[in-house]
Amino acid sequence: MRTIEWNNGTIALIDQTLLPAEYKIIGCETVSSLCEAIVSLRIRGAPALGAAGGYGVALAAHTGAHTTAATTPAMFKQFMHDLCAASETIKQTRPTAINLAWGVDRVMGAILESGTSRIDEAKRIALCEAVAIAEEDVQRNRRLGRNGAALFEDGDTVLTHCNAGRLACVDVGTAIGVIRAAVEAGKEISVVSCETRPLNQGSRITVWELMQDRIPVTLITDSAAGSMMREGKIDRVIVGADRITRDAVFNKIGTYTHSVLAKEHDIPFYVAAPISTFDPARLERDVVIEERDPDELRRIGDVILAPAGAVVYNPAFDATPIANVTAVITEDGVMYPAQPDWWRHVRDPSNTAVPKS
Ligand code: MRU
Repeated sequence: MRTIEWNNGTIALIDQTLLPAEYKIIGCETVSSLCEAIVSLRIRGAPALGAAGGYGVALAAHTGAHTTAATTPAMFKQFMHDLCAASETIKQTRPTAINLAWGVDRVMGAILESGTSRIDEAKRIALCEAVAIAEEDVQRNRRLGRNGAALFEDGDTVLTHCNAGRLACVDVGTAIGVIRAAVEAGKEISVVSCETRPLNQGSRITVWELMQDRIPVTLITDSAAGSMMREGKIDRVIVGADRITRDAVFNKIGTYTHSVLAKEHDIPFYVAAPISTFDPARLERDVVIEERDPDELRRIGDVILAPAGAVVYNPAFDATPIANVTAVITEDGVMYPAQPDWWRHVRDPSNTAVPKS
């Protein structure tokens, strides 16, 4: 199945915390169970969070204690009030990936713009828009993949960090979607996947996805990336993004380090992301980087990795200055931040048009 789907009034998703040991689909029947799934990374990755945000609003609309029978103005007002509160709760689960708020706002916007004052109609619109977000994600990634594949050469070895594959999206993937498209175009590509401490989305998810697709992949520790670049073993780096401002790319912690190393060794550094990841309203300094539970570093399951009470700093993401990025690959095309007017080519993310293939 896809990473996340609507299934008869519940949100079905692949529980990514269990991979690769177990492939399990769980159902979220309430907004609070969806929020728990987001906070604990059962569903994760910026575009997948966009879909989760959209479906979350639909879930809130469908599970609230509101009748679908004839709606009075007071009933509709209360319905919208509850929906706004649920939307805010969903948005606050993870602050850095902009797609989550984008998905929530897009579904809320569709209800408001329709001008409806009926609860049943608002529920219908919410679900319709959420399904559209998920469908478009797949189309956008396919297009983004084809746009990026042209940058790769037959025989390339490509380093990636974290997971920007199909499990970070509804399907296909962004950075890994580009690699898939290059392979589909007949190019021989080998991937080097960083394990991506502390939660190992690289070793657990990226390596699993690529092995399923029979794309050659080698797992390395995050700290092996530098020497591999110096030894000429990496031709390109490609990562996804959780938010792109005019001056920086926010992605999984460690991305910045790879960008500096790539620059030092003259290796192209690509970011692949849909337009919904762009944040035209903010600069790097305005973005909140979420900090996660210190125990992610102190232990893995029952295995203790650090003394109890060890002081920990555990940011989930870092900011890579845009000057370190060779190209940003989107569904609208490839943009080159070295060009002074590159940002002018970025479409307003609230314009939801999907470019024709
Ligand atoms: O904490 P996560 O697993 O949600 O972090 C995900 C990443 O940093 C991905 O690289 C990013 O969301 C791009 S996904 C296409």
